Amino acid sequence: MADTEAVVLVGGKGTRLRPLTISAPKPMLPTAGLPFLTHLLSRIRAAGIRRVVLGTSFKAEVFEEHFGDGSDLDLDISYVVETEPLGTGGGIRNVLPELTASTVMVFNGDVLGGTDLREILALHRAKHADLTMHLVRVSDPRAFGCVTTDDDGRVQEFLEKTQDPPTDQINAGCYVFRRELIEQIPEGQPVSVERETFPQLLGEGRRVYGFVDSAYWRDMGTPEDFVRGSSDLVRGIAPSPALDGLAGEALVHEGAGVGAGAVLVGGTVVGRGAEIGAGARLDGAVVFDGARIEAGAAVERSIVGFGARIGHRALVRDGVIGDGAVIGARCELLRGARVWPGVEIPDGGIRYSTDM
Ligand code: GTP
Repeated sequence: MADTEAVVLVGGKGTRLRPLTISAPKPMLPTAGLPFLTHLLSRIRAAGIRRVVLGTSFKAEVFEEHFGDGSDLDLDISYVVETEPLGTGGGIRNVLPELTASTVMVFNGDVLGGTDLREILALHRAKHADLTMHLVRVSDPRAFGCVTTDDDGRVQEFLEKTQDPPTDQINAGCYVFRRELIEQIPEGQPVSVERETFPQLLGEGRRVYGFVDSAYWRDMGTPEDFVRGSSDLVRGIAPSPALDGLAGEALVHEGAGVGAGAVLVGGTVVGRGAEIGAGARLDGAVVFDGARIEAGAAVERSIVGFGARIGHRALVRDGVIGDGAVIGARCELLRGARVWPGVEIPDGGIRYSTDM
């Protein structure tokens, strides 16, 4: 598909995933053993697109160090760095000098999806659209951009994060642009496609279409979604061309040790060189490389950062443990607790219950 190039926006700070995003940009966090972005890039390649431009800003150097010229993924990747983040629209405008194709497929770099991208492109062409947006239906659309369409799929209205959504169709973070539209985005200044560009294009009467489907889709922006998405990849619920038919309760990487009687379920991932103690219970846990879960500890729907340690019989549920943090024996961390990198909580130092 030489007439189509891809742009992936990866310049965000990923504040909702702090503290994990203090040391690594969100699209590089490991998911099912690979930097998250690898899953998206493989999907782009599977759709026949070879040329990809990454719009970077926050921790820009990390991307090029890892992906280089893209040849490992049979892609041709180049990078454009924003010294100051320009937002989603500004980021797209900023990479324009690197683009030569007439059709540009733009992606938010934090979406895990199963849609066949060729179908979105086919609709874009069939409708002779100026812009085609991928839309998905969700049960609670309030946190997203709501998009209403008519019977022909033409977009009527775009409402970013509204309390009273008129539809359950939301912006899935993937768009096909006619190149000329990108040229019209103001240069060198912050622009939001969601708040400025899309409403403006609709106001001008442009041909904007929505592609709706029911394939797997998840925005990986929060710890809860990150944990679910990772677990879905391991269990084969979320498809990824970068993984070879993965489908199981747990994925244990090389060099990791799992002690006797440890239970690993719910799409748990154990990173390289991590250690899981005897009798530990991991349910939907994401354990990064070199972390240690000691004997009898329980980790549920939580992320344990690089080299962090969870002590003997401690419990972490719906939590995020930063890189190198230490959770002492018998501690309990529940309901969205976030521990910053390197912080050490002494044995029994945090409890939710008194029975011990
Ligand atoms: P939060 O701070 O948690 O909201 O995360 P975020 O900074 O990643 O923002 P958001 O999830 O809204 O961004 C959606 C996608 O656009 C992500 O892949 C971001 O990396 C990317 N993005 C957001 N802002 C910018 C920007 O200013 N420049 C570029 N190049 N990409 C951006």
